[in-house]
Amino acid sequence: MSPGGGVDLTTRVGSLELATPVATAAGTAGHGAELAAYLDLGALGAHVVKSLAADPWPGNPAPRVWPLRAGMLNSVGLQGPGILAWRREHLDALVRSGARVVVSIWGRSVAEFGRAGELLRELPDCVVGVEVNVSCPNLERGGAMFAHSPEATAAAVGAAAVCGLPLSVKLSAGTPALVAVAGAALEAGAESLVLLNTLAGMAIDLATRRPALGAGGGGVSGAPLHALAVRAVYDCRAAYPGAGIWGVGGVETGEDAVELLLAGADAVQVGTATLAEPRAALRVRDELVSWCAAHGVSAVRELVSAAHGAPGDGRG
Ligand SMILES: Cc1cc2nc3c(=O)[nH]c(=O)nc-3n(C[C@H](O)[C@H](O)[C@H](O)COP(=O)(O)O)c2cc1C
Repeated sequence: MSPGGGVDLTTRVGSLELATPVATAAGTAGHGAELAAYLDLGALGAHVVKSLAADPWPGNPAPRVWPLRAGMLNSVGLQGPGILAWRREHLDALVRSGARVVVSIWGRSVAEFGRAGELLRELPDCVVGVEVNVSCPNLERGGAMFAHSPEATAAAVGAAAVCGLPLSVKLSAGTPALVAVAGAALEAGAESLVLLNTLAGMAIDLATRRPALGAGGGGVSGAPLHALAVRAVYDCRAAYPGAGIWGVGGVETGEDAVELLLAGADAVQVGTATLAEPRAALRVRDELVSWCAAHGVSAVRELVSAAHGAPGDGRG
């Protein structure tokens, strides 16, 4: 039987035509093809690799992860080998894996986003897009997060556009200006929104009576983020009917994916669930198929934006 089991799983996010609407989320599925030991990366809609900077970056002190009653906290701190080392050490395995790769990038200044974009020119065809992760401190603005400012986000996206690949921008719900930030990113050349990144949180270790993570605070992910992601997707879809939208946040089951699609996502990414269960993204895809089959849905695109009340793909 086809992966869709009779259900048409094809979708489009911006200009990206995907065979299935489920992908990995940055930072939860390795820098390269590490997950290929557990699942066929080519069976996913896309594989988003962990955010890379132009230069190597050591990340934050341990401990870097902490379990929560629901979900988790992390302060990995964007550790990475830098783009040139990534091209040398990971790209061949990604090509062999059959994945459609989206490269996530970050920087601490607009110039660093530009340099990252330059280093991503002339990649093999398996690299289908670049995700601009603006949930990082902007050293030119006193360390304020790029994603909290429409102007800073637009500048980062504009600088990254030098890569010449379709751009998506990964945003944070840590600002009441989320919809405006999304609009600025789209104006600056992003064709898709990735909603959401983690949200700032903290846990105190009762044994030490100190912050549990080495960096102090961290990012909350998993189940606690799901309703926020649904809201962000819904609001951004209402504001930008033509934008590509990835829904990300607490996707653990096929039903979680259905909810984000109904809210307006064209496709979803699975993050924290993959850390506990490396095949989670494929299970979510299979559960999505079962849900569609059980509810008389013959094509997942019928679900996209349906919560907005429009027929068909909901774009009116
Ligand atoms: C351990 C860990 C590392 C992450 N690293 C990155 C990263 O490098 N770049 C990024 O854009 N998002 C990163 N994220 C955020 C995820 O991609 C995702 O946006 C977020 O966790 C919400 O999805 P989830 O609830 O399915 O995990 C990371 C999340 C976790 C848990």
